[in-house]
Amino acid sequence: MSSPLAAVAQAMVAPGKGILAADESTGTANKRFAPLNIPQTEEMRGRYRELLFTAPRFGEFVSGVILYDETIRQTGPSGKSLEAVIAASGAFPGIKLDTGTHPLALGGPDEKITEGLDGLAKRVDEYVKLGAKFAKWRAVIAIDNGIPTQRAIVANAHALARYAAICQAGGLVPIVEPEVLIDGEHSKHSLERSFEVHERVLSTVFEELAEAGVKFEEMILKPSMVAPGQQSAKASVHEVAEATVTVLLRWVPAAVPGIAFLSGGQGDEEATEHLNEINLIGRKKHAPWALTFSYGRALQHGALTTWLGSEANVAAAQAILTHRLHMNSLASLGRYSSDSEKERELVGAPG
Ligand code: G3H
Repeated sequence: MSSPLAAVAQAMVAPGKGILAADESTGTANKRFAPLNIPQTEEMRGRYRELLFTAPRFGEFVSGVILYDETIRQTGPSGKSLEAVIAASGAFPGIKLDTGTHPLALGGPDEKITEGLDGLAKRVDEYVKLGAKFAKWRAVIAIDNGIPTQRAIVANAHALARYAAICQAGGLVPIVEPEVLIDGEHSKHSLERSFEVHERVLSTVFEELAEAGVKFEEMILKPSMVAPGQQSAKASVHEVAEATVTVLLRWVPAAVPGIAFLSGGQGDEEATEHLNEINLIGRKKHAPWALTFSYGRALQHGALTTWLGSEANVAAAQAILTHRLHMNSLASLGRYSSDSEKERELVGAPG
């Protein structure tokens, strides 16, 4: 007995498919363009996004694209709306619904709360009319001395649950994204500490989701992987994958159709290796959900630094994106190896 939203959620995690996070706010997109001397204009952001969404074989590997408000209303250089370009590829357009993070009142040092609940039901109605089929809301949890406080975890989990319930009531599949940061200032923690915090976060998030009446069949979880902070000693691919699958098996209900990870500042190939190992371990442990990608930086990095804002580099940048998508698609099936990286010529990349 599958509802229309459950069918969309299932399709978002269909075998070999994952999600492209292209929902950088205008400020974040400009921050990525600036060091590459790409003009920080609406037109260039539109050109870049159309380049991504028209890459060869895009719809073969991508089930959904998360967009920012500007992009879902934007027309690309071809004259078509970017939402229609995505739909034509066979992928679902989705929308980032949170309005960003702000200091949490009475929280620990540097703790954040994600905002955007006011007027959300009306915004959901509007985005449904604009063609969105799913949505995303990101909560951030930093690890350091004395943080996260339980207060920050509960406040963020409650907001995620309110958002998810409003989405389902309004006709969108919610991606629920509680990100435990591994990069930035607060990134000195060990893998063990990350595990402990993921336990606290995921248990609280699912308690709040249940309390809010969210239907687990009609959502996607977008978690971070259990990894040490970037300023701490590295863990092996196996250790990260083992810890990640263990914590998910403990706290994520089997009714959730899929888990689509964020990359969180990992290297491009590192994120692919982790996803592959997670799938291999997940299969051994009979994990009940699809385990796939919803990467932003780890998918876009090569394409953006190849494009550099020049028309002459569009095909090369697209080939790089297609290759990364292909590699992550293999990883989502547990079929990736470092040899797979050599298959780039198969997707038409130069050299
Ligand atoms: O909210 C974060 C994005 O959707 C995922 O981005 O893969 O670069 O961490 P990331």
